[in-house]
Amino acid sequence: MSDTGDEDFMARRDAARERLDRIFGSKGGDADDRRTWFEEVYDTAGGDPAAVPWADLKPKEKLLGWLARHPGEGRRAIDIACGLGDNAEAISAAGYCTTAFDLAQGAVDWAQARFPNSSVDYLQADLFSPPVEWRGAFDLVHECYTVQALHGDLREKSYSAIASLVKPGGTLLVISRSRGEGEEASGPPWPLMPSEFARFEGEGLRLVGSNPYIVERPGRIIPHVIAEYRRD
Ligand SMILES: C[S@@+](CC[C@H](N)C(=O)[O-])C[C@H]1O[C@@H](n2cnc3c(N)ncnc32)[C@H](O)[C@@H]1O
Repeated sequence: MSDTGDEDFMARRDAARERLDRIFGSKGGDADDRRTWFEEVYDTAGGDPAAVPWADLKPKEKLLGWLARHPGEGRRAIDIACGLGDNAEAISAAGYCTTAFDLAQGAVDWAQARFPNSSVDYLQADLFSPPVEWRGAFDLVHECYTVQALHGDLREKSYSAIASLVKPGGTLLVISRSRGEGEEASGPPWPLMPSEFARFEGEGLRLVGSNPYIVERPGRIIPHVIAEYRRD
């Protein structure tokens, strides 16, 4: 498999982006439109991760840094909308008993195929109708790039859906692209504004820390934030 940084990989990714942008549901729509679009991304990729626009094939650096300071020691974690599984694997390797889910069955199958000996419990589920036993069940809830991929009603509902999984005493870790308050975004993705990060605080969580950082891509500097919240 080629590296995500090489020219051939990037050319395939650009071609996939163009193709995916033409599929109905790429720019928003209702829950069914979005579901269809996410399923199409994985189902039409033909096993090529270059065709999954967000697939880095490695865990997020900021997540790794956080996990090094907060090992799991057998506590329970959940990775929201896990995609191809790299972040979930890192969480599991840090000692968390890890569940990971995605709306798209194709993502779940692909993650399982990539990590056949994984201890992660991968499953298909919808953030907006999760199994009831997940409510308040997790010491660590990890959200990376899901809210920024949602728009309208789905985005509105996403803050409470994510926060509802955090156990009393537990942590929510959010990694997302960010933008200034009121700044236009022609997503997807639609980076989060400060008032949107604050929505998690409206869901009974306390902000522990929030750190802006940048991700550099050829010709682009992409503002991000990693934010940590606690349910006291
Ligand atoms: C931008 S990708 C991010 C994937 C992964 N978290 C990462 O950081 O690479 C958004 C993911 O959210 C999933 N998704 C979208 N709506 C969802 C929902 N309602 N429930 C669960 N997963 C969802 C998509 O299938 C997709 O894998």
